[in-house]
Amino acid sequence: MHILTLVLALGALLASGGAGAQGAEVVVYSARHYGQEAAFDAFTRKTGIAVKIFTGNTGELFERLKAEAERTPADVLLTVDAGNLWNAARAGLLSRVDSPALEANVPAHLRDPEHRWFGLTVRARTMVYNTRKVQPAELSTYEALGDPRWKGRLCLRTSSYIYNQSLLATMIKRHGEARTESIVRGWVANQPSLINGDTKILESIAAGQCDVGLVNHYYLARVVAKNPGFPAAIFWANQHATGTHVNVSGAGVTAHARHRAEAIKFLEFLSSPEAQQLFADLSFEFPANPQATVNPLVASWGRFRQDDINVASAGEFQAAAIRLADRVGYK
Ligand SMILES: [Fe+2]
Repeated sequence: MHILTLVLALGALLASGGAGAQGAEVVVYSARHYGQEAAFDAFTRKTGIAVKIFTGNTGELFERLKAEAERTPADVLLTVDAGNLWNAARAGLLSRVDSPALEANVPAHLRDPEHRWFGLTVRARTMVYNTRKVQPAELSTYEALGDPRWKGRLCLRTSSYIYNQSLLATMIKRHGEARTESIVRGWVANQPSLINGDTKILESIAAGQCDVGLVNHYYLARVVAKNPGFPAAIFWANQHATGTHVNVSGAGVTAHARHRAEAIKFLEFLSSPEAQQLFADLSFEFPANPQATVNPLVASWGRFRQDDINVASAGEFQAAAIRLADRVGYK
């Protein structure tokens, strides 16, 4: 082949941007553990762009991206919790993406104001209660869990895990540090059982070791899907106040992506109603795109109002949340 022809052919391949392009691919570092393959396969079927996945926990992938720097094969970082996405953006691992499709598909409070990451699924961190021991009318707000009536009856996740750090960080953004501190002091005064795992919290509630806990909603959905008689139910916190705390799993295009156009196309697809259905449904999360349908089991728990504070606050106030937990003796 003449050298010019080769250059033209290569140019045509690149210009095709992926649709049906031979050998086009997007490389994903993913810290999500469930329910992503179906949506990835649908993307490949639709665009001809192959998806290569490397999985690991967030810390590992973060370190790997940092160490690989501009040599990284990764085009997309996909992970859970806005606090993690915020940390990745701050470390310079993600790049800004200006995409009208992503901005239309993902509500503003579920994505980075600087466009470096986008929420794809939504998880509510809210109360779960033992249905034999608690009436829903006894529950209201996160703050009210500091009422003495809950003394010795709460299960909380340890403060070292990012889910509760993000909850506290968002509360700091919402209420200020002083009021958040008094809320968390109330919880601590009730001598909660501190448990390292959302599923373990649910097991403790079912076993009667505690009556109320704070967990991500999809953990309850997974348990109930297998065991409809599980003696615990969800309560949407703060419905008459600020709305239930939500967080996201989401993704961004890496700073040194080699397949940037494909990566953007991939994120746009994942935020479309079609992919959101697959992506959120299989993990019992809520789709970020309000046009997608919620999984029927989760939908049966009723509609609720989300706290619409930008989830980026989970990152902005993460350090303050950790200091606050330390100060009040929340281990
Ligand atoms: Fe989780």
